Amino acid sequence: MEHNKQCQQCLTRIKASGKYQALLSNKTQVFEQRLEQNFPRLFRLLLTIYDNQYDLYSHIEALVCELLGSFKKRKISLKRSDEQRVLNPSWYRNEQMVGMAVYVDLVADDLQTLITKIPYYQELGITYLHLMPLYLSPEGDSDGGYAVSDYRQVDPKLGATKDLKALAVALKKAGINLVLDFVFNHTSDEHQWAQKAQQGDEQFQDYYFLFSDREDADQYDNALREIFPSVRRGCFTYLDDMQKWVWTTFNSFQWDLNYRNPAVFRAMTQEMLYLANLGCDLLRLDALAFVWKEKGTQCENLPKAHLLIQAFNVCREIVCPGVVFKSEAIVHPDEVVKYIGKEECQTSYNPLLMALMWESLATRKTELLQLSLQRRFTINNDCSWVNYARCHDDIGWTFDDADAGELGINGESHREFLNKFYTGSFEGSFSKGLGFQYNPENGDCRVCGSLASLCGLEKALISQNQEHIGHAVARIKLLHGIILTIGGIPLLYQGDELAALNDYSFEQDDKKKHDSRWVNRPKLNTNMLVAANTLGTAQHAVFSAIKKMIALRKASPILGESDTQILLLTQPNLLAYKRSHATIGTATFVANFSEFPQTVSLHELDVEDHLELTDQISDTRYTNVRELTLAPYQILWLTK
Ligand code: GLC
Ligand code: GLC
Repeated sequence: MEHNKQCQQCLTRIKASGKYQALLSNKTQVFEQRLEQNFPRLFRLLLTIYDNQYDLYSHIEALVCELLGSFKKRKISLKRSDEQRVLNPSWYRNEQMVGMAVYVDLVADDLQTLITKIPYYQELGITYLHLMPLYLSPEGDSDGGYAVSDYRQVDPKLGATKDLKALAVALKKAGINLVLDFVFNHTSDEHQWAQKAQQGDEQFQDYYFLFSDREDADQYDNALREIFPSVRRGCFTYLDDMQKWVWTTFNSFQWDLNYRNPAVFRAMTQEMLYLANLGCDLLRLDALAFVWKEKGTQCENLPKAHLLIQAFNVCREIVCPGVVFKSEAIVHPDEVVKYIGKEECQTSYNPLLMALMWESLATRKTELLQLSLQRRFTINNDCSWVNYARCHDDIGWTFDDADAGELGINGESHREFLNKFYTGSFEGSFSKGLGFQYNPENGDCRVCGSLASLCGLEKALISQNQEHIGHAVARIKLLHGIILTIGGIPLLYQGDELAALNDYSFEQDDKKKHDSRWVNRPKLNTNMLVAANTLGTAQHAVFSAIKKMIALRKASPILGESDTQILLLTQPNLLAYKRSHATIGTATFVANFSEFPQTVSLHELDVEDHLELTDQISDTRYTNVRELTLAPYQILWLTK
């Protein structure tokens, strides 16, 4: 039978089924409309993903009923917000959006005390708060919460579900969007599905990838990239009790889910909608590049991973269209952009900008940054980058080797240099970071460290060299200045606004010492806040500058939905870009990535009328100039 006809028939049957009928009421019309509209897409996707599944129809029928069940559980206020956002689909693309990612227990004690910090975030100007995973997870090492044992239970150390709901309401009242993680590539080995699998329940063994034969595992393993090689070689973990190998891309207690099984897709869709119904505005799709596996491939970024995410997205659109997806694809830039689209992830981390800003700080040269952004910054107009300088993870040196090659840069040796530079083993480096996941086989390595320490503040404070302190502060301002203005949602990381330094206490903790990412997950304390509020300290300089730039951003509609044009300069130490909007006008930004003053002509910056110019950041007016000189690490925000 022809596809469209099949689809129509399938929907008609579902709608006629007793189960579906029983769920209908006079409050489900919106759902029915959205289902009608989106079912053809869902049907096509599921048919393509699960082509040979004999009982697919019954899964589709059950899924639709489950979607309706989730819709019915959604609060009226959230449904209202969904409808408003459907009418204003670019709600997340405006200048008011300023994000911060925080661990509940590191910025407060628990969910209840976090409520008392809301005024702090409001004062800073934050309108998007990402709470790092706060679900039930194994005692001890839980990969910072990314090993989830129950998506519906809050970690009791942080509070209870009612506290999370109360926080969601309080944030909404304060005009702050809530972001939660959807950790859907894996569960912890303590999740009830994993436990049932361990008890021998075959239904749940099918939720994961379990192999009795090492050779079967090897058929996959041989082609895989090792993500955490210092945890364990290869991507499989042997389970003594079961005498089986289980697929574990990350830590050995994080079991990858088997999406070849449609029951897994259905189960995880319900968990996703449960999180959406708590009242969050964005869902961060964790490790989404890994969700589909096929023999003989690297099992990253596979076409069916995209289809699967699109299927989740259709379910989102049917039940909670006011919630937006954020892609966490920390992979090659060509692959990162493939997750971005109205029909897949509406927003995405921008690891390329992140990594190359650090690259430019190390080399003082912006050519790779300029070229890469020129080619790769533009994305679908309906979508948005999430621009960040630092996060809870490591920094991996992502860029395209062919781009680098055009500039005479050898990717491999350049990455080696960057690792040395940021771990302080390159002579003259200002930075103090730690290596992460060195792979002895291929020499791969990544870098950890707090933003301030990587920017040189830790070293400068130890030596009390005032000039170096000034440079470190200026580097911190520069990175934040760029993420706040280049186009997209800026995402700050807890403590960076206070210039928090590396926290080495993890080295004394048996549960953490093997994972150097903890060096950039410090517990915030009163001393840090006092320093940030004491005039004359480096911390104060950082805090006040960031606060000021956030306020400036939020008062500048040009930083909302306008275009970004990356300018190609002949000047090798500067990055410049122009934001323009047909009715709002233009603004031009230029940033100096070196510790020396740099001069640039207005002609190069494509600023024609040079009679009157203002730098918004320093409040300086320039009259009748033909060129501008930037101080070390200065960023200018030029308007007429
Ligand atoms: C994501 C998280 C990271 C975690 C991994 C596995 O990349 O950011 O912290 O280790 O996924 O869940
Ligand atoms: C995940 C991890 C991150 C790692 C990356 C490598 O995103 O969180 O630590 O760098 O995978 O692909």
